[in-house]
Amino acid sequence: MSSRFGQPPELSAARNEVPEEFDAHAARGRFNAAFFWFMGNYINWHMRKSKTRIFAHLPSTVVEIGPGVGANMRYLAPNSRLIAVEPNPHMHARLRRAARAAGVDLEIRDVVGEQIDLPDASVDAVISSLVLCSVRNPDLVVAEIRRILRPGGRFSFAEHVAAKKGTLTRGVQRLLRRPWAWVFEGCSCERELEIAIEGAGFTAVDIDHYRIHSPFLPFNTHIAGTAVA
Ligand SMILES: C[S@@+](CC[C@H](N)C(=O)[O-])C[C@H]1O[C@@H](n2cnc3c(N)ncnc32)[C@H](O)[C@@H]1O
Repeated sequence: MSSRFGQPPELSAARNEVPEEFDAHAARGRFNAAFFWFMGNYINWHMRKSKTRIFAHLPSTVVEIGPGVGANMRYLAPNSRLIAVEPNPHMHARLRRAARAAGVDLEIRDVVGEQIDLPDASVDAVISSLVLCSVRNPDLVVAEIRRILRPGGRFSFAEHVAAKKGTLTRGVQRLLRRPWAWVFEGCSCERELEIAIEGAGFTAVDIDHYRIHSPFLPFNTHIAGTAVA
């Protein structure tokens, strides 16, 4: 017997058994695919220092949660294998194009990060950028990342997070939360994601807080780091 994603039942025993769906929206899905395709270099320029640090020395096979249209392809060595957990079908064509251009062997898994169809302790590296803000349940996604990593395996992340309480940025994040989430398909600028990562049972966590200076004020407070399984 196998579950919805084809994994043996023992893999899903400790997990949420209700199949998690991704609500793909035709217009906003296409808009976001185009937005991140055209803005990719600009966003990456702001995040380049932290990404260069955390994505250094990736192994030849990497799992990425929510790779979108391939913003992090540039950090993979040519001939790497990328297992892309990307449930948004509107991202897939551009993601394939980015993989071809980077010489990366791409395997798209059309599942959500809350239910990754990979066995326990089966991978050495998981990466994410600007994803835990958008997933429905960041705690569950981080638990899944922890589950699939081998002992000593590494989760490398660059995410935007809530600003400190009482700051102007936090006020703007609150004020714009509804239109922001509508445009960017569920993205929240009010998540304290460092708490989710620190509480997920990794053996070591290293998190750097920093600020970028873009006109998108709610998006400017970031963390980047690594967590070792
Ligand atoms: C803001 S985009 C970031 C894309 C890319 N990582 C980047 O840095 O440009 C968020 C991505 O997360 C994906 N996503 C949303 N919910 C997800 C989930 N539950 N599991 C995995 N990916 C998800 C979206 O489809 C989208 O590609």
